[in-house]
Amino acid sequence: MDFPPELVSFLRAASHITVLTGAGVSQESGLRTFRDAQVGLWAQYRPENLATPEAFLNNPKLVWDWYAARRERADTVEPNPGHYALAELSRIIPRLSLLTQNVDGLHARAGSPSVIELHGSIRKVRCFDCGVYAETWQDDGQNVPKCSCCSGLLRPDVVWFGESLPRAALESAVEAARTCQAFFSIGTSGLVQPAASLAHAARNRGAVIVEINLEPTPLTPKCDYAFHGKSGEILPELIQVVWKEQTSG
Ligand code: OAD
Repeated sequence: MDFPPELVSFLRAASHITVLTGAGVSQESGLRTFRDAQVGLWAQYRPENLATPEAFLNNPKLVWDWYAARRERADTVEPNPGHYALAELSRIIPRLSLLTQNVDGLHARAGSPSVIELHGSIRKVRCFDCGVYAETWQDDGQNVPKCSCCSGLLRPDVVWFGESLPRAALESAVEAARTCQAFFSIGTSGLVQPAASLAHAARNRGAVIVEINLEPTPLTPKCDYAFHGKSGEILPELIQVVWKEQTSG
């Protein structure tokens, strides 16, 4: 991949870079992106119809099982070179703000020290009724586990369609978008708000916008640079060219 020399010098001098990742970054680990067709048992459902509070109220066991299957799948895969490259970048530049829409926990497993999980995490649950959080629970496989405080149903601690993002995470993300010198949008279709608007917030404050995606997205026309290909290939190459070749002379 050819990286324009002016981008390379700009990134070398940058002290704060913000990165927003989406499901595409985990695709090379073997996790299906959100808008890929589902497989097996789940092929008959559209994720958009499972990831809602209404779907949970209507059929809690179905929604719980879908997340249990996703959690199980996430547990069996490994971070890929794209995740590792971002973890490495956090050790190279003075400030890397890593924002993700992914709920799979792979950035943290790759060693990224602080990840802002805009859409929550499948590793945690909370009570649908009283909101108490839990990181462990008993699942007998038959029933949706219940809250130890109020016996309400436990739900995954993820953001569903129609729900607000966790306030602190969103505030940190907006601050990171507004104060960075370069904003990377990686492996996301840019269709879901408010995450999709972060690139625009960064752009309005003068940040250079860079996209890495297999294909063009609605953000592409607004980007200063767009690289089409796999993030697990482009990111390690970019880090090599921008930061490592410089230090090795
Ligand atoms: P999508 O499934 O909408 O988009 C994945 C994007 O990754 C697409 O644009 C692909 O072209 C791109 N892609 C796939 N493989 C790639 C690879 N190896 N390298 C680079 N790019 C690749 O996933 P998101 O944009 O993450 O929200 O979806 C955003 C949100 O929509 C999700 O967090 C979820 C969903 O609704 C909620 O559940 C609230």
